[in-house]
Parts: sequence; structure tokens; C-alpha cells
Amino acid sequence: MTLDARGEPLTYDQLASVTEPRLVTGLPGPRARVMIEADLRVTSPSLPRAYGFAPARGAGAAVEDVDGNIFLDFNAAIAVCSTGHAHPRVVEAIQAQAELLLHYSASDFYLPIYADTCARLDEIAPMSGPTRSFLTNSGTEAVEAAIKLARHHTGRQYILAFIGGFHGRSYGSVSLTASQTKYRAHFGPMLPGVVHAPFGEPGLSYIRDVLFRRLVAPDEVAAVVVEPVQGEGGYVFPPTGWLHELRELCSEHGILLVADEVQSGMGRTGKMWAVQHEDVEPDIVLAGKGIASGMPLGAMIARADLMTWEMGAHGSTYGGNPVACAAALVTIDLIEKELAANAEHVGRLMLEELDAIRQRHGSIREVRGLGLMIGVEFADGVAADAVEVACFRRGVLTLRAGDATVRISPPLVIDERQARSGLAVFDQACAEVEAAGVEAFAPFDPTREAGGDVPEGA
Ligand SMILES: Cc1ncc(COP(=O)(O)O)c(C=O)c1O
Repeated sequence: MTLDARGEPLTYDQLASVTEPRLVTGLPGPRARVMIEADLRVTSPSLPRAYGFAPARGAGAAVEDVDGNIFLDFNAAIAVCSTGHAHPRVVEAIQAQAELLLHYSASDFYLPIYADTCARLDEIAPMSGPTRSFLTNSGTEAVEAAIKLARHHTGRQYILAFIGGFHGRSYGSVSLTASQTKYRAHFGPMLPGVVHAPFGEPGLSYIRDVLFRRLVAPDEVAAVVVEPVQGEGGYVFPPTGWLHELRELCSEHGILLVADEVQSGMGRTGKMWAVQHEDVEPDIVLAGKGIASGMPLGAMIARADLMTWEMGAHGSTYGGNPVACAAALVTIDLIEKELAANAEHVGRLMLEELDAIRQRHGSIREVRGLGLMIGVEFADGVAADAVEVACFRRGVLTLRAGDATVRISPPLVIDERQARSGLAVFDQACAEVEAAGVEAFAPFDPTREAGGDVPEGA
């Protein structure tokens, strides 16, 4: 643990106000290496690990690893820790709820905080009419719930999704996912009735002229599921107006528009929902990740009149667990009152700074973003991976997305100084990769970085 000048562990406020990374060991450090080795023996090898980062505690936009290294977090545990690590108000709400009631299932009984959370979601939902919500433990379950509700309500079988989209890894959601083959390989057959179209400009004419004319009758399509900004697929933004046209196409054929805002929602883009930048009203919106600051919660929020399924048609033992709901209620307040605005403000600043960085580095192809959902696209995936590794070695946490993009998705509490100093590190990392070559930043290989003894006193 990092100590202050008097030899005491840093307080929450001290850690949260750190403006630069503070590295005290090589990375991964000795304790992290021991943990990587222990982990290698017992965890599922399917877990995708980006680099050898082993967090011990976090505060705001700073995280300390098991060796006492302090990192600036430009990743927020994959866009999850929206209010920052261990926000005191969120922690307080979790503790208070844990002392009252750890769990009761809303699937079979009346859980007041579950209904309170649904009421709060109704207040912030991007629909003008009333909504009802079904709460889940994760994003993928929210997607599953939407697939089921859409089919159940419309009596139609087909679901349309987009190439490059990511919707999760359970069978229904992975059948929609089309960002990388690895998510689908050797798992087939997938859910029947799922059809994909290109995302962005060519997508709508493809749906109209190819899908609807040759493959699928539009009156058999239950829903179109779309990420307003593709996340895992590379932080890809559709052209302005595209979501509107998609909305019109859906309305024309009685198809439900499902906005998967698991990554783009909850203030990340500077508004509560990314669809609000275009004034598009989905029929169903899906939330997850940032909704409860890291507690496992997801939500399918649907127009109330769509919820025609009968009692018992769908449920979940843990979905909408009271502790997760307590975290969500505070998280939503914080985002609504201050953090969406901070995301908009700091995000604008970061985009400006990144544009200047882009001009200094030939390896950067494009910088794009909205709020704190920012993608930096490199010439290829090897270059993007090398920059990700170089950032890690300098104490800034980023994460690759899509074919060649490094995503920057810090906690929404990040302040200007942290954003600027993290970007200075990003700039240096790009320069280092260009000077030393990508070979100097081999992608993470746990077997190479595992092992070793923890030195005494470490
Ligand atoms: C847009 C989107 N939908 C769904 C999911 C699945 O969420 P989870 O990993 O919580 O199941 C993700 C996760 O990255 C996502 O980004």
C-alpha cells in the first residue's frame, strides 16, 4: 500500500486527488506476478486479460495495485465505475442497505427498493411515455430479456443486429454479437432468427433492399437491436441522422427499436443516454455497466404498453438485488446532478488534447468521441496493443476495442488535471512505441509474466 510522508496509508481523498501515476515497482510488480501465477492455476482460461494489472483499492479515477503502484484509470473497469472507485456516497448506501436486507427476490415477492429503482429508471428513461423495467444482474441478461419480450409481445421471430456490435456472451446476446469471431467460434448453432446488417451508412439500404426483399419479411421482424455507439466493436459512431432513419424504418414496419446502452448509457457520452444526442426514442433501452457504479445490475426499460407478458413469463433470483439497487439509486442521482455534465466538459477537453496528440503521431488514424466515450484508432491492432501496453507500463490504464482502437472511458468523476496528465502519458506512450517499435511491447502473455517470489518487506 502506498504511504504518505508520515508513513500512513493514503486516505481515500489523497488517493482520489492523485494527479499522476506513481509507480514504485516494475510492472507487473512482484506481488502481481505471484497473483498472476496463482490465477493461472485455477481460473477459466477463457477470461480475456489485457495486461498484468492486479487492483487492490481505488478512489475516484485512481487505482492502486497490489504492489502499491498508483495508476490513473482511463478505463473504469470497462466503463463500469461511473461514479469513480468507491464513491463515498455509493459506499455509504451499500453499507446501509447491507445492514438492512442483503437479499430478497423480487421475482416472487415485493421488494420496495426494486420498485423504487424501476420508478427512478422511468424518470430518466429516454421515452416520453411511461415505462416499466425488468432488473438483471448484468448487461447480457438485459439483452436476453429484450429478445424475449420483443418476441413475446410482437409474436414475430426475427431479431436484427449489426456487424461490429457487441451485446454479451450468453446464447441470445452472443447470437447478436458480431464484433469478433472469437465470441462465436465453436459455440454454434446460435439462436435461430438473428440477422445482421452493416452498421452505419450502408446498413439501412441493406436492410431495405437486401434483407427485406430477399431474406426476411419485415412483418416477421420483432426488433432491431443497436448500440447507438458501438463499444467493444471499437467506439464507432454512426453518421448523424442515421439513428433517426433507423427509428423511422422500425416504426414503418411495427418493429421495436432496442437501444443497447449498456456501455454508452448512464452519462458516459455527456447525456444520460447516447440516443438523447439525436432525440431518438427507442421502444426498449438496455442499461448495465455504469448503472450501479460496479455493483452487478442491469435493466431492460421498456415502453409500459409493451410489457404484455404474463406473470411468470420471465424472472430472476438475484436480478435487482437490494444492495445493487441501493448503489444504483445514488449512482443515478450523481450522474444526473453532476457527472454527465463533467463527462461532457472533461470529454471535450480530452478530445481537443487528443487531436493535438494525433497530429504529433503518424500511427494514429483517427480520434473520435462523445463525452468520456473516446476511441483512438491506430494503423493496426498491433500498434493499438503496443500503445495499451506502453500506457500500462507508465501507469495509465486503457483498453483496446475493435480492430485497432484504444478506448478511453475513465470514471465520470475524472477531473481536468487527471485527464491532462493521463493524456500526457498517452502521448509519451505513442512516442515510445513509434521510437522503439511495436516489438518492444509484446501483447500480454500471462505465462511469461507470472511467478517469482515476493521480496521480503514488499
Ligand atoms: C453494449 C453492450 N451490451 C451488452 C454487454 C454485456 O454486458 P455484461 O458483460 O454485463 O453481460 C456489454 C458488455 O461489454 C456491452 O458493451
